[in-house]
Amino acid sequence: MRLFFALWPDDAVCARLAHWSRELHAVCGGRPMRAENLHLTLAFLGNVEDARVEEVERAAEAVAPRRCSLILDQPGYWKHNRIAWAGASTAPAELETLVRELRAALANSRIHFDAKSFASHVTLLREAREPAVMPALESIEWRLDGFALVQSVTLPRGSRYEILKSW
Ligand code: 2AM
Repeated sequence: MRLFFALWPDDAVCARLAHWSRELHAVCGGRPMRAENLHLTLAFLGNVEDARVEEVERAAEAVAPRRCSLILDQPGYWKHNRIAWAGASTAPAELETLVRELRAALANSRIHFDAKSFASHVTLLREAREPAVMPALESIEWRLDGFALVQSVTLPRGSRYEILKSW
């Protein structure tokens, strides 16, 4: 199973992210992520054997979900992977702590994950062009109160993400 841990937006935050996506699409083009797939990845595990999924869930259980607000106030673009994204100019300390604890719990259980350092972002467009000027967008307040283990299912028409469990 292809797995990752993520923050999943509620419908209101999702609708506002979809609005950002449309505004960015007007200047960057590219392939918009489907609204129901929008998320913020905390740790990407990649392929995990079915028999180890329970261990992954047990590792996550040891992590205290943190309540805080994430203010998405920064649209961004990465040249290296041609992604346009929604980000936060300041990530709350609680989110940094959650990611550190989750990754430590995975490492303690010898569960492999992509060790690239955490860059909080919600991918909105793939295969996008670098915009000459980023549009000004109204900030989005996202109240965080839990996290999810998500399975990525590859379909002929793209990926579908299914929440397996949330805490
Ligand atoms: P991205 O949107 O910046 O590409 C599912 O693929 C999620 O895991 C995406 O949010 C993706 O981030 C993230 N991710 C992090 N590391 C990854 C990796 N090594 N391979 C694929 N996806 C990764």
